[in-house]
Amino acid sequence: MSTTLARMKPTSSTKHINTSAEAVLAKAQSGRAVIQDFVPLADSLEWNLGQQYLRERGNKAFLSDARPVPFVINNDGTLSRNAAQVFFASCLAADKAGTLEADIYVLELGIGVGLFARYFLDAFRDLCVEHDKDYYGRLCYIAGDHSKQMLLDAARHGVFANHPGHYLLREVDALDPAKYLRADLGLGGEQPRSVRAVFLNYVIDCLPPAVLEVDGDTVKQLCVRTCIARNIKLEKHTDLTLAMLVERAKSAAQADGTRSVPATARQELLEVYGLFASEYDYREVDPTKLPHGEFAVEYARKSVKRVLHNYGAIQSLERLLGLLHAEGFILINDYGQTKKSDVQDFEHQRFSLTTAMGLNFPLLRAFFEKSGTYRWVEPLEETESIHARLLGRQPAMETIVGFVECFGKAERDRIEEPLKKARECQKVGRFELAADLYRKAVQLQPSNWMLLCEVAHFLIYALRDIKAGLDMVKVGLRINPTCSSELWTALANGLHEFGRYEEAEQAYLRALQLNAKDRRAKEGLAGVLAQKGDYGGALKMIAEAFVLANPGENFDELLRKQNQILVKLARQMQMDYLLLANLISRHVSDATQPTMSGAAARQREESSGSSITALESRAT
Ligand SMILES: C[S@@+](CC[C@H](N)C(=O)[O-])C[C@H]1O[C@@H](n2cnc3c(N)ncnc32)[C@H](O)[C@@H]1O
Repeated sequence: MSTTLARMKPTSSTKHINTSAEAVLAKAQSGRAVIQDFVPLADSLEWNLGQQYLRERGNKAFLSDARPVPFVINNDGTLSRNAAQVFFASCLAADKAGTLEADIYVLELGIGVGLFARYFLDAFRDLCVEHDKDYYGRLCYIAGDHSKQMLLDAARHGVFANHPGHYLLREVDALDPAKYLRADLGLGGEQPRSVRAVFLNYVIDCLPPAVLEVDGDTVKQLCVRTCIARNIKLEKHTDLTLAMLVERAKSAAQADGTRSVPATARQELLEVYGLFASEYDYREVDPTKLPHGEFAVEYARKSVKRVLHNYGAIQSLERLLGLLHAEGFILINDYGQTKKSDVQDFEHQRFSLTTAMGLNFPLLRAFFEKSGTYRWVEPLEETESIHARLLGRQPAMETIVGFVECFGKAERDRIEEPLKKARECQKVGRFELAADLYRKAVQLQPSNWMLLCEVAHFLIYALRDIKAGLDMVKVGLRINPTCSSELWTALANGLHEFGRYEEAEQAYLRALQLNAKDRRAKEGLAGVLAQKGDYGGALKMIAEAFVLANPGENFDELLRKQNQILVKLARQMQMDYLLLANLISRHVSDATQPTMSGAAARQREESSGSSITALESRAT
């Protein structure tokens, strides 16, 4: 039956029905107001504004957005310790070979919150102390980012405060690093310095890509049309009209050479950026006009039809290799495809309002191996979420071995296993076993502040050892004092449980200073305010927490807390009535006048009493 159907040619009537169904859909899809017509992905308004959002928002994109850019995976200390070990091995090898320079330079691009750098420096210093080497004393860590705001935030948050004299904060565009580092590296001078290592975590995925579709001699590339999202009434959100937005978008396109939108137009567009949606289509392109376009087309012809071509990443890596010591290495940690396959999900990723597109690791490998000049090293087995790669000219064997040991799946599994098991035990109430496993987890990841935060909550709420929980949070806060509202909320929760309400309130407020959208901090603060008798403030906090909550996960708990506050409020009101009634009865008996009767006051009291009982049953 199905075969018959499959073979059936469309009759004129089914054809007509299909065509009209398609037409209906096409019409529905074309109903969106266009702000910028189809242009290549990397030139699109959405891509450019996404990049600029990150530039302007600084570390708030990670710490304080409602759906922040994920950052913990690269900033929990584990990646830093592994990178420090590989780097230490490379220094040791160079030292033995007598090639280690007096001043050792490393460079990180796209530092984000900067915690990777902080923990790298901590771990490298510790390794040097442990092995009695002076490399840390000779080290200069150049922390670069294209966003001035990001660098300012790192300085303001004191992220590098533990390492005075060992770091430089620099504005650097990964697409042209030498231009920005000329003075620091003495480029063009008599004794230019080279860098021993370059760290690139989730940064070259921010550089311009293209998606190419190769079919015989025809090459097309992914283009994007930017529209106003469906069901958005522009006038509700901005006083800019559609025509004005189109105008701003045009001026953005004119600034294409520098890939940056003029400041005022940019600001205005950014304000409404969240209202935009994209449409995609493949349009013909001359590959010779794309950086390394012919290479990508050749690559696609040999293996896949549709290929992600990270030409910005290639440009950046080529230029960084030019700054690298012959024995140095570039360490990439990023997401993307690791197998040669068609790009299925070609939509670029939106984290908060930023844009990025994962890396095509096989294509990068093919590019850098083709000349025979570079070594591209991969771990023996891939980890699931993030992929590490090492690239250099002649990295020492010790460096390669260190990389393979530290960055494979086996090592990640070894480190994560006790934590996974601890969570499972906790779920089924096996708290003592969970405590043992958490201890192993903390041994393996001593600077993972997110883990310490989790263990603190386990101690406070599961083991009911509040003092230990508070001590644990304090360890976490020593490691990461300024970039985690979660840790401040955990501290506040412990203080709250201890009955130290004033201090708890201060800690919740500190958490909210770091992240005004921290739902748990609002929920906790509501509890403290209710404790203080500020029921209005407490209910307001709960209302704000509702807005940030996930209905499926948090609504029940919030409703329960809201009812607890209402119970207290109703009691308070009942007390107020009683007070009033007593005042009045004294007044009545004093004056022997028939005003509000005791019965009426009792009735009010009773009715408020019954509503309290109803609230209480909901609050428990
Ligand atoms: C997704 S974040 C990753 C941050 C951090 N490395 C991490 O793993 O959490 C990308 C970072 O790269 C920076 N960035 C984006 N484009 C850049 C460029 N062309 N040159 C240098 N930094 C750039 C951003 O400002 C941001 O700090």
